[in-house]
Amino acid sequence: MKRVALTTINRTPEIKTHARVLDALLAEEVGVMMACGGRGLCATCHVYVDAGQEALTDVTAREQRTLSRLTSVRGNSRLACQARVCGEGVRVSLPEGLYVVKQQDLESMIGKRASANILHPITGRILAEKGKIITRSFIMQLSDLDYDVSTALAED
Ligand code: FES
Repeated sequence: MKRVALTTINRTPEIKTHARVLDALLAEEVGVMMACGGRGLCATCHVYVDAGQEALTDVTAREQRTLSRLTSVRGNSRLACQARVCGEGVRVSLPEGLYVVKQQDLESMIGKRASANILHPITGRILAEKGKIITRSFIMQLSDLDYDVSTALAED
């Protein structure tokens, strides 16, 4: 078993050795959209690994390709569904605005102000800036996720 520190929510779940970082997020009921079903194609499970990168499996070519489409990518970016935990010391933070809501929750946010930047789960671009009113067109931008994933699969 290995522990993974999720600094954004101040939790440190224990997962099986070689389980995915995603399993640590799911153990704490973080709302991961998983638009591609954990196949490394959508980046809805994007995380930043702030420590312990050496305790994770290497980045695959597919993961690299998916991350390269993200505007919010950094040197320590990983896809939680692709990174497997082999050792201790992994510390992960979540990109602000990516994990805030599920699609059905978004509907209830129409007309309210975004409490943080809300990001497109595949490209990472800002859909709604912090403090701006959330509109229906913002929700519509998320409705093409299935199409985006099948396009990525076809290109793979
Ligand atoms: S769930 Fe799609 S890339 Fe991880």
